[in-house]
Amino acid sequence: MDKIVINGGKPLHGNVQISGAKNAALPILASALLTEGTNTFHNIPDLVDIKTIKKLLCSIGAQIEGEESVKINFDKIVSHTASYDLVKTMRASILVLGPLIARTGTARVSLPGGCAIGARPVNLHLKALEDMGAQVELNSGYIEAKAKKLKGAEIYFDLSTVTGTENIMMAATLAQGTTVLNNSAREPEVVNLADVLNSMGARISGAGTDVITIKGVTSLKSTEASIIPDRIEAGTFMIAAGMTRGEINIIGCNPHHLEALINKLRDTGMKISPIKNGLKVSAGEKINSVDVKTLPYPGFPTDLQAQMMAYMSIGSGLSVITETVFENRFMHVSELLRMGADIVIQGNNAVVRGVPVLHGAQTMATDLRASASLVLAALVAEGETEISRVYHIDRGYQTIEKKFSALGADIKRIK
Ligand code: EPZ
Repeated sequence: MDKIVINGGKPLHGNVQISGAKNAALPILASALLTEGTNTFHNIPDLVDIKTIKKLLCSIGAQIEGEESVKINFDKIVSHTASYDLVKTMRASILVLGPLIARTGTARVSLPGGCAIGARPVNLHLKALEDMGAQVELNSGYIEAKAKKLKGAEIYFDLSTVTGTENIMMAATLAQGTTVLNNSAREPEVVNLADVLNSMGARISGAGTDVITIKGVTSLKSTEASIIPDRIEAGTFMIAAGMTRGEINIIGCNPHHLEALINKLRDTGMKISPIKNGLKVSAGEKINSVDVKTLPYPGFPTDLQAQMMAYMSIGSGLSVITETVFENRFMHVSELLRMGADIVIQGNNAVVRGVPVLHGAQTMATDLRASASLVLAALVAEGETEISRVYHIDRGYQTIEKKFSALGADIKRIK
């Protein structure tokens, strides 16, 4: 297993090019299931999770070629099953459920297990499909769903679910009649998917708000589209600029997708200004400690909570970080403590008292964004930090060590 070794203390300077958004590319690749003919999707990031969903889609019948620009064709479906060995490595595999049942009337998808950050059930996905007339059963760890033809329905999500909204929005494109999703997720990745589906001939309105209306059509045609930039990767580099006392141009990000983070980072004292195709981000005189509460979009993103905690661990005062989306997303705390941070967990709050310096240590990544927070802490820590189990990082960050070393970090990957 690869390790990443970092010697901290170098301020970061220069340009970083932001890759396509993992969490937009995954549902958009799955949406090809709804069409015949060849779809072309540009700006696909080179990530382990993308390789995984490509494998899964090929096992169902996809013909796929290309890396950054992907051509994907589902003229034939050879299987209705998303098998456990693929789904267990990536929960987002659940995103084939909606398109598969809409296209073929039947789907057999392994129940995604829990993961490090929480139980992450998919009950809201299944209830919505039942509301649309599907028969859904759970048999030996698999979701078995059948529907001769899905029917439009009025759906109420008990809570905002990103992939739940995406799954049902895809399913509803080919349903009979109109579906309304109430309390739907508003993330930019949902909007990117809706735009792609509409370019295929779907009739979706309201994406980006908490009420999305989908008028069913009889078929969808293949399309060509681009993936939006990854706001979580962009946010991770923005925080790195503040932590390392540096200045970074974040090239290719979309500032509108980062407003909650930009406001928060300005409160910490950072200077953030728009440039031609992105943002110029520089550290403030000192690091003001601020409170953070994660919320569904457009609130502060849970996927940047761990990175913000690393930043606040060297703040000038006290910061309370509240995680409201997942029930167990403080796995990074114990690793940060080993590097000298002063953090106390109280329920879904983490009380972070800033310390003057962190110390390098041997650490272990647990989940994707927790491992990003360890990289950030290591970039400012005194001495050497070794991070093991970096496959967590490779799932969501394209060549993270190359991008950070191009900014002046002393970081390398060892096999
Ligand atoms: C998406 O996960 C993202 N993944 C996550 O990013 C992200 O953290 C999360 O949204 C929240 O923004 C992808 O888009 C592939 P949810 P998702 O359904 O859709 C509960 C990363 O790092 N819930 O919005 O699985 C759930 O347990 C990943 O890239 C139910 O109870 O998240 C959670 O507490 C990590 N029942 C909350 O809702 C359901 O049926 C939000 O989950 C569905 C969700």
